[in-house]
Amino acid sequence: MSDQNSFYITTPIYYVNDVPHIGHAYTTVAADVLARYWRLRGRDVFFLTGLDEHGQKVQQAAAKAGIDPQAHCDKLAPQFQSLWTRLNISNDAFIRTTDAPHKVVVQRYLELLFSKDMIYKADYTGWYCTFDERFWTEKDVESGLCPDCKRPVERISEHNYFFKMGQYQADLIEHIKRHSSFIRPESRRNEVLGFLTTQKLGDLSISRPKSRLSWGIELPFDKDYVTYVWFDALVNYMSALDYLRPTPSQAQFWPANVHLVGKDILTTHAVYWSTMLMALNLPLPKTIFAHGWWTVDGEKMSKSRGNVVDPNKMVDEFGADAFRYFLLREVPFGQDGDFSQSALVTNLNSDLANGIGNLLSRTLTMIERFAGGTIPAIGTPAIPELEALIATTATGLPERIEHGFSALAFRENLQALWELVGLCDEYIDKAAPWKLAKNPESLPRLNTVLNTASRALRLLSVLLYPYMPQTAAQLAQQLGLSFDFSKPMPQTAYGWETPLAGVKIFKGPGLFPRIESTPQGAKTESDATTTPQPTTVTPMPTTLPPCPTASASSPAPQAPAPAQITIDEFMKIQLKTAKVLSAERVPKSEKLLKLQVSLGEGMEQRQIVAGIGKKYEPEALIGKTIVIVANLKPAKLMGIESQGMVLAAGDSEVRGLLTLLEDVEPGTKVK
Ligand code: MSP
Repeated sequence: MSDQNSFYITTPIYYVNDVPHIGHAYTTVAADVLARYWRLRGRDVFFLTGLDEHGQKVQQAAAKAGIDPQAHCDKLAPQFQSLWTRLNISNDAFIRTTDAPHKVVVQRYLELLFSKDMIYKADYTGWYCTFDERFWTEKDVESGLCPDCKRPVERISEHNYFFKMGQYQADLIEHIKRHSSFIRPESRRNEVLGFLTTQKLGDLSISRPKSRLSWGIELPFDKDYVTYVWFDALVNYMSALDYLRPTPSQAQFWPANVHLVGKDILTTHAVYWSTMLMALNLPLPKTIFAHGWWTVDGEKMSKSRGNVVDPNKMVDEFGADAFRYFLLREVPFGQDGDFSQSALVTNLNSDLANGIGNLLSRTLTMIERFAGGTIPAIGTPAIPELEALIATTATGLPERIEHGFSALAFRENLQALWELVGLCDEYIDKAAPWKLAKNPESLPRLNTVLNTASRALRLLSVLLYPYMPQTAAQLAQQLGLSFDFSKPMPQTAYGWETPLAGVKIFKGPGLFPRIESTPQGAKTESDATTTPQPTTVTPMPTTLPPCPTASASSPAPQAPAPAQITIDEFMKIQLKTAKVLSAERVPKSEKLLKLQVSLGEGMEQRQIVAGIGKKYEPEALIGKTIVIVANLKPAKLMGIESQGMVLAAGDSEVRGLLTLLEDVEPGTKVK
């Protein structure tokens, strides 16, 4: 029996008939989050993933590619492994069913069941679906189509070996009824119970004649047959313990804590695998959790539709952590979800860039400015009600998260963490540390705000780690904490009251850049000089739109009359003063300068890319107070994000930058 402190988690082993897609990434990321969480909590975790390399699908894919099946598998396997590396998957082992020791275990099990008369040979005639690699009975098949994938089925008659699955029907029903966590979620449990209690469970054909399929593990008692791919594949969960982990790993890790699977392969796990284990006198896994499927932009994902989501592209474009976050934040685990790039971008901008990223950046900026870069000790309360609420929320969070992970409630856990992010933002906005900093008497209150926000960020980094390991490490590092996430985290890291004063912070780059809402591809420099339209949905901002009447090159009479706008329309544009903190040239561009501007003490900094480089040397701008459009959607110019627009006079040529006669504080409204 596995010991309480061990945690064995598996993903399905994926067919190597094609490159990995979002479905594969989904299960594997979810499993990784659980593995990371329990390791951090001090459990001895064994996290297994791998490849299902036998069977008809793989044989056909190899034939199509004109290569030997093993060569085909060897070619595709690294694509899965490299994706897992890129997605920061922390699997402890990677099994391939063509591994020699795996085959030995499969043959041992077959031999054992055969010797116990649990396997017999019989004639079989049925409807066979090549795609699903399974037989269907007469009543399952409608209009000659597979009830599962709707592809045509073939009538096949052959001798085969059968596993006496049917004799375990009552035991299996009993087991499911007695163990409420065995099949999850609840709706799937009811589905399985539903069909087990209303239909007779037949025996399972576990062989394929070599004349029809040669790519498989030979039956030890009949060399003319190979074993059915599922009988081979499911055994991976046990065989891995035999040779991919030092023994006695079976005693330590079996039964597995969680088999994560997609809803389409629940029956093979809940029924085939469970009855196989019963016949082998082995305990059943504690939980089989079936998650839902992703559609893409509302449609079924398929190669023929050309909408297969490539996880590698997502990592290239948004980074591993953002993609991991999206997968688990978007839909409740267990339900179907729809993937769309725009939903991912919205999610990234609101929760990551504006959420946790902004909270870290504003907190650290204020610690730098008002506390000399060291987290101050708590002083006197600044907003007692909010501080109490933050304290209650933060204190209860670790337990809530543990509960969530025990229930595989990935999304609910993220929501809980973001409640704390939201509370901290509200707290900072209301406490307005930049105002407190102006009065030496409010220093004790200011210190409380800075300390409280820092402690919340510390807790967030530990609890976020399973989902976003890179982000958590950056968070901890910028907060000046020497967390070692590769080891169990000490309890103090979860403690709200654990002091955090005197730590020197290391403010670094922002955690998440904001992304344009509509993918526009890489912008060229010439794009940057086209007339921007600040009130349209996707402007390309750099400088003020030229006013036709002010243009020297276009005579006034020929210029189209500028459309009039109402005062309400004008009021939508937020103009603000901003102080230029730094400025540098954008490489390979004559025109573009990259500015970092401040919108006031304690307020965020912005990066703005402006087409004013022909007129100004960067150094000349530092310290100047300029005017910017502050509520423009961010856009990328030559691959660099611009979070606003600088106002300047001029048409194709910049004549002068808008500055102010008086010394006005940055962040002041302009109207
Ligand atoms: N080889 C078998 C599993 C054997 S486990 C002992 C297999 N492989 S698979 O590569 O076809 O599928 C692997 C997983 O991907 C399944 O859990 C399946 O549910 C999942 N998905 C395939 N398409 C998916 C989506 N569109 N969305 C989410 N998951 C999907 O089955």
